[in-house]
Amino acid sequence: MKKEEILKKLRETEDYISGQELCEYYGVSRTAVWKAIKQLEKDGYCIEALTNRGYKLIDKNVTENDVMSQVSIESYIDTKWAGKNFVFNKETGSTNQDVKALAEKGAPSGTLVVADSQLAGRGRRGRDWISPPGKDIYMSLLLRPSCMPDRASALTLVMALSVIEAIDELEDFKDKCGIKWPNDIVINGRKICGILTEMSAEIDAIHYVVTGVGINVNQTQFDQDIKGTATSLFLEGGNSVNRSKLIARIMHYFEINYAVFEQSFDMSGLIDKYNHFLVNRDKQVRVLDPKGEYDGVAKGINEDGELIVIRSEDEKQILVYAGEVSVRGIYGYV
Ligand code: BTN
Repeated sequence: MKKEEILKKLRETEDYISGQELCEYYGVSRTAVWKAIKQLEKDGYCIEALTNRGYKLIDKNVTENDVMSQVSIESYIDTKWAGKNFVFNKETGSTNQDVKALAEKGAPSGTLVVADSQLAGRGRRGRDWISPPGKDIYMSLLLRPSCMPDRASALTLVMALSVIEAIDELEDFKDKCGIKWPNDIVINGRKICGILTEMSAEIDAIHYVVTGVGINVNQTQFDQDIKGTATSLFLEGGNSVNRSKLIARIMHYFEINYAVFEQSFDMSGLIDKYNHFLVNRDKQVRVLDPKGEYDGVAKGINEDGELIVIRSEDEKQILVYAGEVSVRGIYGYV
């Protein structure tokens, strides 16, 4: 019996659960139950123990939303491979860097690194990703797809889709968030999640891909430069969110979506789901192409994950590739 199993049982039980019941349920001794409870307390869980009544997890939400640990995440993971091999760091430089180091040592596809804070979190286009402790999600997943390197950029879209599906199932966020192509997740026009995908490859073979996800979960304050465009689940929904559970749900959806991606190594099986969440769909956008900006109407993605844009000046259909340009709404960030 592992302490995660006891944690699961305590979570499911509204009232006290007796030590005897736990012993019988798991077929273990009272000492084993007691040891597991003590370990959970050491991990930061608050468990009340009353003579004649048993054990109860106190203030489930506050505890679990604040405490993110190896054991809390593991207790929610329900996947076969995504996030199964899993490392939790209280503090690290960057989880993308951690995963790269593990990949170089031969770690398997599906290895996940989660951190409670990052000292050198990185965003796209060389930006920093400010990563304070106790509030948000910083995680990176190692993948070893057996496809050509030019297919790997779609994995960012697969991850964006998985993140939004996990958020969409939270009561406060049903039908409230969208994907700003290619991979920002937004609520009410502000960003709550960014994804940074990096790859090690040769011309015709991928060594590994690292998909790093940063989610503003319970953060309430942002730096001046992103104040206008960033928000968090807490600020938008009014309730703190259990980070461990959210991570596990993202892995759950990722495993399902990746299986579809793997059939063709493109987005063809996921286009409809992705386009359903796309905030830019049928909206006026400005394409910031280094070769020249232009305006148009975004129609959705194609099987390669490119954004189909009908250019306003000549009604020509342009396929926008994620690597080279960014897309903005005409009137702001989205
Ligand atoms: C973006 O600029 O939108 C992408 C942000 C990606 C941030 C995440 S946090 C976990 C992982 N580790 C990093 O250093 N970056 C990514």
